[in-house]
Amino acid sequence: MAQIIPVQPFDGVVFGANGDLSLRKLMPALLRRFRDGQIPLESRIIGAARTEMDRAAFHARVHAALEAALGPEECTPEALSLFFSRLFYVSLNAEVPGPGWTELATMLGSAPERIRVFYLATAPNLYGPICRNLADFGLVSGAARVVVEKPIGHDLASARAINDEIGSIFAERQIFRIDHFLGKETVQNLMALRFANSIFERLWTADVVDHVQITVAESVGIEGRTDYYDRAGALRDMVQNHLLQLLCLLAMEPPISLDADAVRDEKLKVLRALRPFDVHEVGQRVVRGQYTQGVVEGRMVPGYQTEIGRQSRTETFVALKAELRSWRWAGVPFYLRTGKRMPHKVSEVVVQFRDVPFSLFPRESGALLPNKLIVRLQPNEGMHLYLMTKDPGPGGMRLRPVKLNISFAEAFGMRYPDAYERLLMDAVRGNTTLFMRRDEVEAAWAWVEPILSAWEENPDPPRAYPAGSWGPTAAIALIERDGRTWNEDWEEQSAAPSPIIAKHP
Ligand code: BG6
Repeated sequence: MAQIIPVQPFDGVVFGANGDLSLRKLMPALLRRFRDGQIPLESRIIGAARTEMDRAAFHARVHAALEAALGPEECTPEALSLFFSRLFYVSLNAEVPGPGWTELATMLGSAPERIRVFYLATAPNLYGPICRNLADFGLVSGAARVVVEKPIGHDLASARAINDEIGSIFAERQIFRIDHFLGKETVQNLMALRFANSIFERLWTADVVDHVQITVAESVGIEGRTDYYDRAGALRDMVQNHLLQLLCLLAMEPPISLDADAVRDEKLKVLRALRPFDVHEVGQRVVRGQYTQGVVEGRMVPGYQTEIGRQSRTETFVALKAELRSWRWAGVPFYLRTGKRMPHKVSEVVVQFRDVPFSLFPRESGALLPNKLIVRLQPNEGMHLYLMTKDPGPGGMRLRPVKLNISFAEAFGMRYPDAYERLLMDAVRGNTTLFMRRDEVEAAWAWVEPILSAWEENPDPPRAYPAGSWGPTAAIALIERDGRTWNEDWEEQSAAPSPIIAKHP
């Protein structure tokens, strides 16, 4: 049974309250936490944004966003009136210490022991000015926390500059750098899988594992976020943070405890163990792609450049081969890929084990396929373990793979909370375990930087791939050159029989 442990009363200020992140993710998450009684009624949420409007107008905007995100069933009059009774608005210019800031300071009052969460749902160039104004208006008490979104910066130097600015006002224990993948239930489950079960951890080494694949595919395009996305691209938007965090959770050593720093120390070691790319090998080991017109989930969609209305060399797809210089993982490649406008939304991890040393079975028995553990992070959260078995009945020893399936949705029969619900409550509690520490963010930037430099120097555009495909053919070649293939077990989405089983009757 899910257990709701209320947090202490707090004041939460959302800067950028009118923006996409606030309206699509934060407000729905807060409504649910109020509705379920996790946020006590003495708490307040204050939206802060530049637009001049009164509280009622802000409520109307939030109302429309809540209906769009949660549907009418969750937006009951009771839930809405409860949430709106605790939701306030102040209009201010984040960079200019004008009257809006005075109003905010008056609203927060001088209760230094009361928890204050400042959520900066703004562009990163505003993080510094907002933090300075918070300090100048005397709002940074010991019980204050600041939450910032990824990507922190554009490269290592800008990430350091932003971290310096925030760090000059807030102590590291007060800084919550969000990577919302860490708040997903199934991502946290990777820790349970590895460290609450003895069977897997013993197999989690180069002696037994052949390679690992991490796929985060999305069927959506860039959803109107042209300015941000065209400057960022898939490497900065997804790989530098979400995919590397997944890699850390899969590859790290068991931490000495679940304390925030114990876990983050181990993740940092993984990031530092990643073999750096030489600028000259990027062309061989990293594939960048950009979608062109194609059919996704039965609908014709335009190519990236048509969608944004200008020419662009920004990548919407990345596939790469990473290696770790550690005793546990020496020689085990980690293949990572992510892209927009792929055939389905799916995030999964595949741990493929080594082949048996030699086969006892005659050729007629069928091919011996390697065991695979697939952890489906979303959607259809679950785990599948592929094993070879004897086909029942007469006809000799015929072998075929079967899949042990665990569907988390069926096993637990409950709604998976959105990552932001969990992370917002962790920030109120002051628990930084699922947030990135400064050194992690910077180590991740240091690793992707040679890729960024190589792309800048290379005049070739990203490789085209039709929307609705699994990326450019070079991404297939990247793994097939090593005698391996991307996992193709997509039957949950397509309802077609598993290609693996179909291939080996
Ligand atoms: C965000 C990226 O961090 O993650 C988006 O900026 C991406 O481009 C999103 O679509 C994916 O998150 P989720 O939770 O939908 O898998």
